[in-house]
Amino acid sequence: MQFTVALDGPAAAGKGTISKALARHFGFAHLDTGLLYRAVGAKGGDPVTAARGLTQADLAREDLRSLEAGAAASRVATIPEVRQALVRFQRDFARRDGGAVLDGRDIGTVICPNAEVKIFVTASPEIRAHRRWLEVGGEEADVLVQVRERDARDMNRADAPLKPAFDAVMLDTTAMSIDDATRIAISLVEAGLRP
Ligand code: CDP
Repeated sequence: MQFTVALDGPAAAGKGTISKALARHFGFAHLDTGLLYRAVGAKGGDPVTAARGLTQADLAREDLRSLEAGAAASRVATIPEVRQALVRFQRDFARRDGGAVLDGRDIGTVICPNAEVKIFVTASPEIRAHRRWLEVGGEEADVLVQVRERDARDMNRADAPLKPAFDAVMLDTTAMSIDDATRIAISLVEAGLRP
């Protein structure tokens, strides 16, 4: 069975937690596509060469979740050749047998426009910065600045900017627990699986 769930949205909106929970609940494979861009940014050197030669070892680096790696990711993610080099891998993953959840920025719009379920997860910048700050520590005000910078870069780039697909369901998690958001996402996927 092929079945793709596309989960897009800005930094720290809850995509990662929700997509892992969906994958566990339905037995689908999960791909955090942000990790691909983080690995390209962290590799250094020419980003296009890095994207074309990405290995499993690059994706397993310990330092990919840092704020710096996120900022580097959003810079290399503006380069069309980098994005192009990662398309095939993501599409193959999405159509693997047994179902797949992909989370990112352009899954519903560019990578899998025919995904069976599309969810766009949002939350206010302040709440997202607070959630990220709980993970990474430091000064919360600095984290908010970084979140806003990354939002601006992701939304304003020419190639595959962050935006909801026209047929995505919007899921605003600002005033919602992650458990409630996950329950809603599960019911959306159940509805998509119904014949
Ligand atoms: O976890 P978080 O939402 O903070 O970030 P991420 O999903 O790991 O993505 C890091 C950066 O990679 C984003 O800010 C985007 O610039 C880029 N990205 C992208 O352009 N397209 C994707 N499908 C996923 C990530």
